Amino acid sequence: MANLVCVRCGETMPVTQPMSFVCPRATIYNRHHSLVLDEQPKLTVRESFNPFIAFRRMLMWASFADALGMSDDQQVDLITVLTGRVKAVDGAGFHFTPLRRADDLSRHLGFSDEGGVWIKDETANVAGSQKARHIFTELLHLMSLEIYGRAPWTFATRPELAIASCGNAAIAAATLAASVNWPINVFVPADASETVLNRLHELDAKVNVSLRTEENPTGDPCVREFRIAVSDGCIPFGVQGPENAWCLDGGRTIGWEIAEQARIKNVAFSRAYVQVGGGAFAANLSQGLATAQPNVKLMAVQTAGCAPLERAWRLAGETGSVRDAGSRWETCMWPWESTPSSIADGILDDETYDWVSVLNQMDATKGRPVVASEDIVRTAWDHGREYTGINVSPTGSAGLAGLVADRRNVRDDENVLVVFSGVLR
Ligand SMILES: Cc1ncc(COP(=O)(O)O)c(C=O)c1O
Ligand SMILES: [Zn+2]
Repeated sequence: MANLVCVRCGETMPVTQPMSFVCPRATIYNRHHSLVLDEQPKLTVRESFNPFIAFRRMLMWASFADALGMSDDQQVDLITVLTGRVKAVDGAGFHFTPLRRADDLSRHLGFSDEGGVWIKDETANVAGSQKARHIFTELLHLMSLEIYGRAPWTFATRPELAIASCGNAAIAAATLAASVNWPINVFVPADASETVLNRLHELDAKVNVSLRTEENPTGDPCVREFRIAVSDGCIPFGVQGPENAWCLDGGRTIGWEIAEQARIKNVAFSRAYVQVGGGAFAANLSQGLATAQPNVKLMAVQTAGCAPLERAWRLAGETGSVRDAGSRWETCMWPWESTPSSIADGILDDETYDWVSVLNQMDATKGRPVVASEDIVRTAWDHGREYTGINVSPTGSAGLAGLVADRRNVRDDENVLVVFSGVLR
């Protein structure tokens, strides 16, 4: 069975351990530790439209639930019940999302009939983005502990949940929390959009606005306040690996799903251009896809307004190797100095929290980072909507911006993967 191992200090922990969220050596002041799985499972698919049921035997949660004494049928029942509750709150439940060759966009970008751009469309997923995939395995962990009487709380004494996010992840977390009536604190920046705030209020989330201060000019103030809330007893319910390793479990379903759909459609990808904020999404997609297509180059896309990952890639290469650079955390990764800005505002994380795993995946697949200018981010957003008809947000189409910026390095007959990861609200 796989173990959790810290990319910084090597501390290991069995996946069967309750509340195995952060490395035991991490502190509230030093989160430069991150638990990740030391091996990836073989692709194992069961018949279902729900990815959490179809790929359940691959989840680290399956090993956790087995150890609690839950049978496979009981695991399917819990996923089914929770998905039904999510659907009651959101309108959408978990289901395979479409993967299609975008014919007009491929033509517009000059691809030949042998190649093209393939879009994985997450805009109709739960809460309008891929984020709920990450958080659902955190929910499964908590609910199974509670049901089996192994949690240090009861239904009546549940600690509140907490998340730091500017948009999609906050809405996803608040949606899942509302589905099981679990109180949640959401830490959002001062410029969070009206639409996001309204939805969070509808979902009964406790909204806390976090401000940048003169004592702490860099680093995300929402993350800082979230960490204080967690040290005061809240349960981390977010999408950054160092804050809760369990987000790195369900996040892989997008890669497994693409692997299975690509098998059915008989397409082999050469590259995946994936937008990077905190980095969990790109790392998980690439790990998941690699179970069937191990050589799809991970092209990690950031905007010129905030590109700490590209800096880490360069520094890690200069100081040894880009692989397993966790012990060189301070040398490679620190908050972006200027205030991050872009219309792709969902990927403006000051730090790429899951950078070690993203670097490892780029190294394993012979990929690299791509930084897209703001002009290209905007053009890709316009053309992405125009040529596909998908109501995608600028963050959601930022992977396409990476492809556009890098187009001269891509042959016309390559099949390239892009994820439209979030809906325009
Ligand atoms: C729509 C959308 N796509 C992609 C991302 C990037 O994901 P990650 O922060 O895991 O890198 C985000 C993050 O907020 C997002 O909202
Ligand atoms: Zn550690």
